Amino acid sequence: MLKNKKTVYFCQECGYESAKWMGQCPGCKSWNTFVEETVSTKKSLSSGITKSSEKRQEPVILKDISLSEDERQTTKIGELDRVLGGGIVPGSLVLVGGDPGIGKSTLLLQVCRNLAEKQVSVLYISGEESLRQIKLRANRIGQFNDKMQLLCETNLEVIREVIERKKPDVVVIDSIQTMFHEDVSSAPGSVSQVRESTNILMQIAKGMGVSIFIVGHVTKEGNVAGPRVLEHMVDTVLYFEGDRHASYRILRAVKNRFGSTNEIGVFEMCNTGLEEVKNPSEFLLNGRPEDASGSVVACSMEGTRPILVEIQALVCQSNFGIPRRTAVGTDFNRVNLLMAVLEKKVGIHLAASDAYVNIAGGMKMTEPAIDLGICLAIVSSAKDIVIPDNVMVFGEIGLSGEIRAVSMAGQRVQEAKKLGFETVMLPEVCRSSVGNVEGINLVYVSQIRDAISYIMRK
Ligand code: TYD
Ligand code: MG
Repeated sequence: MLKNKKTVYFCQECGYESAKWMGQCPGCKSWNTFVEETVSTKKSLSSGITKSSEKRQEPVILKDISLSEDERQTTKIGELDRVLGGGIVPGSLVLVGGDPGIGKSTLLLQVCRNLAEKQVSVLYISGEESLRQIKLRANRIGQFNDKMQLLCETNLEVIREVIERKKPDVVVIDSIQTMFHEDVSSAPGSVSQVRESTNILMQIAKGMGVSIFIVGHVTKEGNVAGPRVLEHMVDTVLYFEGDRHASYRILRAVKNRFGSTNEIGVFEMCNTGLEEVKNPSEFLLNGRPEDASGSVVACSMEGTRPILVEIQALVCQSNFGIPRRTAVGTDFNRVNLLMAVLEKKVGIHLAASDAYVNIAGGMKMTEPAIDLGICLAIVSSAKDIVIPDNVMVFGEIGLSGEIRAVSMAGQRVQEAKKLGFETVMLPEVCRSSVGNVEGINLVYVSQIRDAISYIMRK
């Protein structure tokens, strides 16, 4: 074996590094994921920033750094701009993750088209599809002008050379798992390749001020395939999620150095590419059942935007000793906790009942503000009372059955009013911040018991 080559084992799920093979990864606890990879012990390929001892560095005064060059580039896709924190920052590295077939390539191709229209030069580098395949997809999306260039390549040294020569403003790499560097001997898609490739792309982005979008596939656990380290290296991590069988898609920021991470963007897959869904609440509340028990509309803040969703619950007699509980789209443990509160503090007998809770439309919501919605849906199903469909509820529930304050109550009420709801049930503690709103009936509650007796009276 060569002197400067050594092999180490990497967990292909999380990037854990070990000198020996192991059955179970101590990092992510998955089994049989270690693969032997050769690493070069020579100077790392990406050590371009080091050698600080040779060059004298001077610190800069924070006040003197000018931001004029950091103007954001809008993509003309409002939903994407918001998730990015207001547009593309020059020199940023953005990772777009998601299941295969969810629409990553489609979205980025649309971004390229919009940017090219604004005379921004873009380079789309694909390691997955041929030029013909990309052309076919592009035909569905629309007209492209000559600022948009394509390249089918997987060798990063070639890519670096092309970028240096063509000097595009924005580059798309589809996908990072197909890229490789000759000096790393392991296969494309392996931990060391992905890490090294991202490193090189980061140098290009920061060194030349090019904004780079990287597409990454996700594993069955939902992480970007290969190492978690990738997420630490890039500036922004966006996940594209949604049911492949449903037409809408949600773009979520998991990490963002240039904006908030709570923002989501909603899209719908049409036959001409992805369309923005400007009003997700209306979209999600479509097709609600009328006069059905076990259904209530709740509100969750996703970033700066309130989103209304229908929460459904089905409570029925359990046939076995241990009741079944299922939560789809929300936290299972939270549902169990809320059921225990209902049992103990309100005296509703649920211990011998199966319960299924579902957030309609396939949305995932974990904000505690939907607690009141979950509780009322469960009670509504257990007692078979219909909650009128013009009622919206929100509030966090504490362990003693109290209804606690949530943030941005006023905005949630406004959203409900905009969508034509007539009654909003909200925490008593929010009264001082919300007060009275014209045209909508506000029901302030301080205990879950009060909330339940209100819907019983209705
Ligand atoms: P794609 O962008 O190739 O997904 P990814 O790059 O994330 O793997 O998305 C492909 C899917 O989108 C495919 O199932 C076809 C569908 N699609 C449409 O429905 N309409 C369209 O206009 C396009 C381009 C794709
Ligand atoms: Mg693709």
